[in-house]
Amino acid sequence: AAEPTRLVELREHADARGGLAVVETGTDVPFPIERVYYLYGIPQGAERGGHGHRELRQLMIAVHGRLRVTVDDGYRQASYELDRPGLGLYIGPMIWRRLTHFSPGAVAVVLASAHYDENDYFREYTEFARAVRERPS
Ligand code: TYD
Repeated sequence: AAEPTRLVELREHADARGGLAVVETGTDVPFPIERVYYLYGIPQGAERGGHGHRELRQLMIAVHGRLRVTVDDGYRQASYELDRPGLGLYIGPMIWRRLTHFSPGAVAVVLASAHYDENDYFREYTEFARAVRERPS
């Protein structure tokens, strides 16, 4: 079975000057961070994601605003609300994910274990579901 998706409480340092949250390889994410990208300017009602990965591991953070992440391991779904900069969502390989309900102005940062590789994607749910059932668990 796929590695469980999980929320990660990041270490935060807040003082009179504001907040600071930290993500370190090995401590907060179980992979070396090879890529960072972010989603912003998402129109109301838009959906992002809608794919799975063969190998990629990611940590998603709503650094501003909030969004909903719905994950599916081919057998069951779960939803997570990312609503603060100190909260991450770890998503391992072989998880279908959809990102919805972005609040206006929300910015989501994604830390990833590898460079962009279109060959790592499942873009069709049926292909993803077939691969889940073909893999030894
Ligand atoms: P897409 O996978 O649709 O984004 P999301 O999962 O957030 O909905 O990617 C949008 C476009 O950006 C697509 O043409 C691929 C490209 N892209 C890169 O070139 N590099 C990247 O690291 C990512 C995440 C996407």
